[in-house]
Amino acid sequence: MPHFFRNESAHRATCIVAVTPPSHQPIAERGPGPMTMTAEEFRSHFPIFEEKAHLCSCSEGALSDRVIVAMSEFMTSWRVHGAPWHAWMEHVDLARGLFARLIHASPENVAVVSCASEAAYHVASTLDLRSSRRILTNDLEFPSVAHVWLAQKSRGAQTDFIAHKGGVITAEDYLGRIRGDHALVSVPLVSYANGLRLPVRTIADAAHAVGARVFVDAYQGLGVVPVDVRELDCDYLACGTLKYLLGAPGLAFLYVRPGLEFRVEPPLTGWFARQEPFAFDPGLLDYADDARRFQTGTPAIPAAFAGVAGMSLVLETQPQANLEHVLSLGDFLQDELLRAGFSLFSPTDRSLRGPQVSVLAQDAEGLGAFLADRGVLVSPRGQAIRISLHYYNSFDDARRVLQGVIDYRRTQPM
Ligand SMILES: Cc1ncc(COP(=O)(O)O)c(C=O)c1O
Repeated sequence: MPHFFRNESAHRATCIVAVTPPSHQPIAERGPGPMTMTAEEFRSHFPIFEEKAHLCSCSEGALSDRVIVAMSEFMTSWRVHGAPWHAWMEHVDLARGLFARLIHASPENVAVVSCASEAAYHVASTLDLRSSRRILTNDLEFPSVAHVWLAQKSRGAQTDFIAHKGGVITAEDYLGRIRGDHALVSVPLVSYANGLRLPVRTIADAAHAVGARVFVDAYQGLGVVPVDVRELDCDYLACGTLKYLLGAPGLAFLYVRPGLEFRVEPPLTGWFARQEPFAFDPGLLDYADDARRFQTGTPAIPAAFAGVAGMSLVLETQPQANLEHVLSLGDFLQDELLRAGFSLFSPTDRSLRGPQVSVLAQDAEGLGAFLADRGVLVSPRGQAIRISLHYYNSFDDARRVLQGVIDYRRTQPM
């Protein structure tokens, strides 16, 4: 284990800055290795498991040894070289490339943005609303994304919401609501609220049949749920790096289908959206021909370092093995919770479940705090706690959270 993990936490930050193990080739040059990591090997990269059961990747992915090294590389490069913009921008491009690899896209079809809301804003603000003025989404969409759709009211757009039934939204629910005047159909890959996996491709086909564009928020799945934008056939896909992609806040991406035509130029823009960002001509507003047209200003360089390290770990997992491991943990947890008489908000059908099992609780915050006191980290949301599962989680983690929830019920009604 790298020696900086053994330092007292008060000194940890300074030690990390000072220590870049000389044997570590920079991640930018190293790139991800072959897709062969076992779940145990993967877990060994995350020091938090020495003490805690991290089951909150839906909120923030666990910190890996590689991200710690990458962040120290960033700080060392800053301290030693002053302003190494060229190398930093190469890192941002590397992050773009790794993300493109994860979703089976070309890097030129990926814009680097700061968050998913910004990605959604670029999509909404460049919709041509002259003939089609409606946007279709659902009530399990992440609020911030739905808010961007709602905010298009000022441009004359109306947002329609499909209501979930018992935490489930089907393809038929969408197909019954898609109309000829929908400009955009928004489908989360996996819902943040309860881990429901949505049938994106079927919905995309129906949306395209009426000329609507399709937006996918992949934030709650990518990193565990394999994604191929060619198979999803979506027009846009947004995702940030801080959850299942195991990076840090500040970096997200927007995939834009090649060949998509734009009659409206992005109103939120900046020099990184120019055809030649370093032309420095304030009078020239020439949008890049590729997805970079959706970029704005200076990207979050530290988050790019973290994102490269996090995504490189994900890229070293075999996608089906990763998903199967997570689904098996979910099966186990779900069966045991149901057997013990708990009510779930996550779908019980395996084919509808993403990397999350969600348990209904009258006081979800109280339950979350009770579990945190025992070193079990989950994410309370509304009337449920979200137990999220990544390739690094083990059956022991699942047993720990199960026992914690059972113990809590002995003290409080659920
Ligand atoms: C599905 C989903 N989309 C988006 C976000 C975050 O959006 P943003 O990057 O704009 O903060 C979250 C965060 O929890 C999420 O779960």
